[in-house]
Amino acid sequence: SLVSMRQLLDHAAEFGYGLPAFNVNNLEQVQAIMEAAAETDSPVIMQASAGARKYAGEAFLRHLIDAAVEAYPHIPVVMHQDHGQSPAICMGAIRSGFSSVMMDGSLLEDGKTPSSFDYNVDVTRKVVEMSHAIGVSVEGELGCLGSLETGQAGEEDGIGAEGVLDHSQMLTDPDQAAEFVKLTNCDALAIAIGTSHGAYKFSRKPTGDILAIERIKAINARIPNTHLVMHGSSSVPQELLEIIRQHGGDMKETYGVPVEEIVQGIKYGVRKINIDTDIRLAMTGAIRKYLFENPEKFDPRDYLKPAREAAKLVCKARFEAFGTAGNA
Ligand code: G3H
Ligand code: 13P
Ligand code: NA
Ligand code: ZN
Repeated sequence: SLVSMRQLLDHAAEFGYGLPAFNVNNLEQVQAIMEAAAETDSPVIMQASAGARKYAGEAFLRHLIDAAVEAYPHIPVVMHQDHGQSPAICMGAIRSGFSSVMMDGSLLEDGKTPSSFDYNVDVTRKVVEMSHAIGVSVEGELGCLGSLETGQAGEEDGIGAEGVLDHSQMLTDPDQAAEFVKLTNCDALAIAIGTSHGAYKFSRKPTGDILAIERIKAINARIPNTHLVMHGSSSVPQELLEIIRQHGGDMKETYGVPVEEIVQGIKYGVRKINIDTDIRLAMTGAIRKYLFENPEKFDPRDYLKPAREAAKLVCKARFEAFGTAGNA
């Protein structure tokens, strides 16, 4: 059934696990996530970005997720809007049936200019007031995450581990987080703790200190009743990059957030873990491989089936690693 995000995250906090929040754009991704959830008995958060709405349209996204709810009645599902850029966009999503929204007021409506703290508080509080009255959950964001535009925030925007800006200056400030939550009453808060969006997060192999664990602990201590959200949480598995490269793809050396580090984050209060890129890599690798090995095939079902299967394996692995499995 369709549930609010607050319900799922409260349960996750009580029992000390995390929930992957997977981005969806099409039928095969929705099916992959639901099959993985059914096989591991996991609750589900599916989220739609502005890019997803542009690609599929809100009606298709909503009906795809509604179809998932109908096909798997025993699995709790959150339909979440990812990175809403204004109260108007959040209201539109709520009106069309989403059970949770992210008001990303860390940026202005253009989705790229960093905003002031006061602006962020103002738009987030507005959305919370409208949402809570009707049982919809709200995620806010405080801090500087990688750009959504390029999908290659990290190093190029000076936001990643090796960027021109001092790493610690980019992280969410615990005092400011406490103030933000007091003023907005948001249910969940996306924090900057060392990650960025997209496939190109880090150009060198991580050595165990990608996440600012001490910062997670400090923020969690200040806002124990607000669920922490980690964006840019794809692990960019090297074996998926290899499959893509071996079958005609061209991807430069890159690394993501190791699953073990995410598991550490969960231990200290991270509850929602946003993942999009890993599903993209899995599907692209499977499609490239299939078409490379079967050049005579032309029925989309033939190559979308292995793509769906590859996405499902990623989802299952995250449900299991984050402790989500068994909690549906
Ligand atoms: O938050 C970013 C997600 O990866 C969505 O990406 O805007 O290309 O759909 P997108
Ligand atoms: P990735 O690009 O690391 O998958 O992050 C997705 C995300 O944060 C969506 O909001
Ligand atoms: Na989100
Ligand atoms: Zn994000």
